[in-house]
Amino acid sequence: MPLVNTKEMFLDAYNNHYAVGAFNVDSIAMIQAVLQAAENCSSPVIISLSKGSREFMHPGNIKEQILTVSKDITIPFAIHLDHGKSIELCKDCIDEGFTSVMIDASKYDFEENIRITKEVVDYAHERNVSVEGELSILTGEEDYPRLIEEFVKRTNVDSLAISIGTGHGTTKFKKGEIPKLKFHILEELERRLPSYPFVLHGSSSILKKDIDIFNEYGGDIKDPIGIPEDLLRKASHGPICKINIGTDFRVAYVGALRKSLSLIKDKYEPRNFLVPAKQAAQELVEYKLKNVFNSAYKIK
Ligand code: G3H
Ligand code: ZN
Repeated sequence: MPLVNTKEMFLDAYNNHYAVGAFNVDSIAMIQAVLQAAENCSSPVIISLSKGSREFMHPGNIKEQILTVSKDITIPFAIHLDHGKSIELCKDCIDEGFTSVMIDASKYDFEENIRITKEVVDYAHERNVSVEGELSILTGEEDYPRLIEEFVKRTNVDSLAISIGTGHGTTKFKKGEIPKLKFHILEELERRLPSYPFVLHGSSSILKKDIDIFNEYGGDIKDPIGIPEDLLRKASHGPICKINIGTDFRVAYVGALRKSLSLIKDKYEPRNFLVPAKQAAQELVEYKLKNVFNSAYKIK
């Protein structure tokens, strides 16, 4: 059964120095693109849905929708709630068959984040579902690794999103700033929590090729600066076992859609425009699995 939680995935990723890609999807076509790319690359993968994407795709039977289109898929994949901001939302997703949820209580103080995260962990673990938490830098960088260790031990959360320099969206660094990640924090975390899987959010590289297509056909993304791929490769080699990609995936899809809508003038069947978009999204995923996350051909 290829639908799994993330426990074994992350163990294998840690032991074999790669990261599992989590791609933010909004539709069945995007899910098919992710699954087919992972199948072509013999790589595990995570289908990631935000609260908004889940609502758009009809809450209640997302798992059934995905199982319907994954009949020929043999690689392991997880269905994951991204940035779940409430205990209720996480429980709803667990009840409807998600195999992994993120409880993002990072806006609360340390103790409240622990309380909320632990409640989701207890509920999820009774149902064989994995949980990702998030802890941002609260009182300064020096204290951060110690707080992370305490957070993980007290909540028993399966993986943790950490702040080492990534950020959401198309502009991750100021103009002129040298993009870097805080690898010294990762090194200390590896000493404190050996073999524990950490997660990088906001990890799109904001690829020039796709931004150019997007902007050439009517888009307007300004000041694109992403995370350099060599930094992501280095992170994947260490304790980063999951890397989230939303923006790169969406820009590839929507850019190709913009292009076909603009160039094809005499057709009106939606598939004429959606097929190239799906193809571009699939190529983007294959590119990341093979060239950045080092997860291709890990499933024998
Ligand atoms: O939760 C989603 C990801 O962290 C998205 O990050 O904007 O760099 O693709 P991104
Ligand atoms: Zn995120």
